[in-house]
Amino acid sequence: MKIDILTLFPQMFESPFDASIIKRAIDKKLLEINTINIRDFSQNKHHTVDDTPFGGGAGMVMGPEPVFECMDYLREQRGGELGRVIMMCPQGEPFSQGYAKELGKEQHLVFLCGHYEGFDERVRETLVTDEISIGDYVLTGGELPAMVVVDAVARMVPGVLGEAASAEEDSFYNGLLEHPHYTKPREYRGQVVPDILLSGHHGNIRKWRRRQSLLRTIERRPELLTQVELTKEDKAALQELLSYLQALDLKK
Ligand SMILES: C[S@@+](CC[C@H](N)C(=O)[O-])C[C@H]1O[C@@H](n2cnc3c(N)ncnc32)[C@H](O)[C@@H]1O
Repeated sequence: MKIDILTLFPQMFESPFDASIIKRAIDKKLLEINTINIRDFSQNKHHTVDDTPFGGGAGMVMGPEPVFECMDYLREQRGGELGRVIMMCPQGEPFSQGYAKELGKEQHLVFLCGHYEGFDERVRETLVTDEISIGDYVLTGGELPAMVVVDAVARMVPGVLGEAASAEEDSFYNGLLEHPHYTKPREYRGQVVPDILLSGHHGNIRKWRRRQSLLRTIERRPELLTQVELTKEDKAALQELLSYLQALDLKK
């Protein structure tokens, strides 16, 4: 997958993509991430990229010219095709694992990172295919949101996680929160690892994990259960867990 990130601060991306799984994916050529400085495409002599808003008011707006110029250059570089062009935007569609899965199937993604008051509206109207928000709060720029989205999407690209880790077991992938994990030592400060995980009985371990996953979801994010396809076994387990939770509540 090729990822182009248009930003005023390319240096912000150096360290996050130079470590761990993302760096390995880049080294293995599963991912190519290029940052492009929008300022390099400013045509005026001071290389400015923003200006005051028409109509007045506080803040500066990123002008259309350098962004359009930059996209023309990129289109040419990529043989005329740009694929999905994603604007980071607090007003955009809330990002989710499902969105990450969908973007993970693409060959080429372009990210637009805003700053100040954001981009001139004509950028949004003409160049953008997707607008993504990482949450209902406003950050100073689109760089951190783009890093979040690129990281989540990269994990969906086949081969990036390697064999040791699997995204399919993670929270949200199949709609549920993941079960808890334990490692050595077996006992630590009086807290012991559940016996079932040491039993070597894979069928029972799988069942225990699924129940823990259902329990976590019902306790923390019950609304997720309405979107998941549950098996007969899941439904029976949920019924049991609900009675158990109700009994606990009645005892209070
Ligand atoms: C200060 S914000 C602009 C906010 C804009 N004036 C508004 O109220 O919608 C500057 C840039 O940061 C990025 N940004 C800020 N918060 C974000 C969020 N929650 N999700 C995605 N991008 C965000 C966007 O690229 C945005 O253009």
